[in-house]
Amino acid sequence: EFPLPVPPIKQPKATFTSPATGLPIDYYEVEIKPFFQQVYPNLGKTRFVGYDGISPGPTFKMTQGREAVVRFINHADRANSVHLHGSYSRAPFDGWAEDTTEPGQYKDYYYPNSQNARTLWYHDHAIDHTAENAYFRQAGFYILHDAQELGLGLPQGAYDIPLSLAARRNNADGTLWDPEVNDERVSVYGDVIHVNGQPWPYLKVEPRKYRFRFLNTGVSRSYSLYFEADGALGQKVPFNVIGSDAGLTLNPAKTDHLDISIAERWEAVFDFSSYAGKNVTLRNSRQVAADIDYNSTDKVMRFVVGKSVTSQDGNGALPPKLRDVPFPPPKSGVDRTFRFERSNSRWEINGVVWSDVAQRVMAKPERGAIEVWELQNGGGGWSHPIHIHLIDFQLISRVGGRGAVQPYEAVALKDVVWLGTSETVRVIARYAPWDGLYMFHCHNLIHEDHDMMAAFNVTALAD
Ligand code: C2O
Ligand code: CU
Repeated sequence: EFPLPVPPIKQPKATFTSPATGLPIDYYEVEIKPFFQQVYPNLGKTRFVGYDGISPGPTFKMTQGREAVVRFINHADRANSVHLHGSYSRAPFDGWAEDTTEPGQYKDYYYPNSQNARTLWYHDHAIDHTAENAYFRQAGFYILHDAQELGLGLPQGAYDIPLSLAARRNNADGTLWDPEVNDERVSVYGDVIHVNGQPWPYLKVEPRKYRFRFLNTGVSRSYSLYFEADGALGQKVPFNVIGSDAGLTLNPAKTDHLDISIAERWEAVFDFSSYAGKNVTLRNSRQVAADIDYNSTDKVMRFVVGKSVTSQDGNGALPPKLRDVPFPPPKSGVDRTFRFERSNSRWEINGVVWSDVAQRVMAKPERGAIEVWELQNGGGGWSHPIHIHLIDFQLISRVGGRGAVQPYEAVALKDVVWLGTSETVRVIARYAPWDGLYMFHCHNLIHEDHDMMAAFNVTALAD
């Protein structure tokens, strides 16, 4: 058994004063490069490619109001494009799939950091190769804090732990099973769940409250997570969800399970105080959507609970209200409908794929417009986690499949919605703050690479 790796915090290379605003602006450099890691003690080392040669990449810890420029230098063997998922970056810095940086080149990305506190992540978005690049582990956390969130007395520092989940599949010689080499066009579920790059790790915790930031960086697997105490097999211990893709939820939402599909982020507070000296296991339910189960896909990681608490900071009762969430004003009707389905051996959105360049701009919302989009799963037994760039949306309904909006979804703003098998969902958002061409797509990375991706063009009002 191996401990949970926690990625290091990225330090800026320099800090400048912006001549435009007089405010400090941090400059960072990240190298995209290969590395080798012993994942299984009895097998050979595995070759990966990661940000700064580690995976997850280094964690950025940012503060609202402080801008950053990040230079991503490509020392890998193929083109890259970096998307900061969760940021309303200007279009040229949003990681457009064809805006690739070739090996030996770099690109500077400007990040405004003016949104509220949230868990973002950065990952590759290069045309046709996102799945392979992400599967070979180009992904990292980017955590934005703000004063309101820091003032709530939530668990912080050593009690605030990022957990990135990915299910992988290895060949018998220790190398990673490669979806591109194997020409996999449908799904890669993976038979072993890794957390922060380590299969089934453990984490030593104190008997107190922790904040966990869950992120699913995998290719195709979705999870329904739950906590189970030693000797209480199958009993789900309740906990509170406090945050989503777009930061804190309105209230803590008590639940005994957490559904998380690809690219979703959920923050949870779990209280280990009644488990001193015991173990708590994080598990994944069987038969989640139509995903394939293997022997061990029901286990994720273990928490080994110690007997003493070193700090009571952030260990108090959760505030009944976490923040004023800027939900869009309610609106009836549907402005646009998009159907995600496999048809003609293609992964289509309303019959269109990304390579249909003349048709792929499928919406033109006016800047500031509030629109309701209906997203339909066209069937076939696949989940489609749908991500809309630029905006935060509210999930207003789900019919079919799981049949309901989960209680924690109801108090959240999101940028990815899990469109489960046979489901139709509606999401409402304000298309702002910038004009420009942005992507929306399925975040099952195999579907995404095989073109289940389209664009929308936010345009200024004519005045
Ligand atoms: Cu997380 Cu378009 O991506
Ligand atoms: Cu999909």
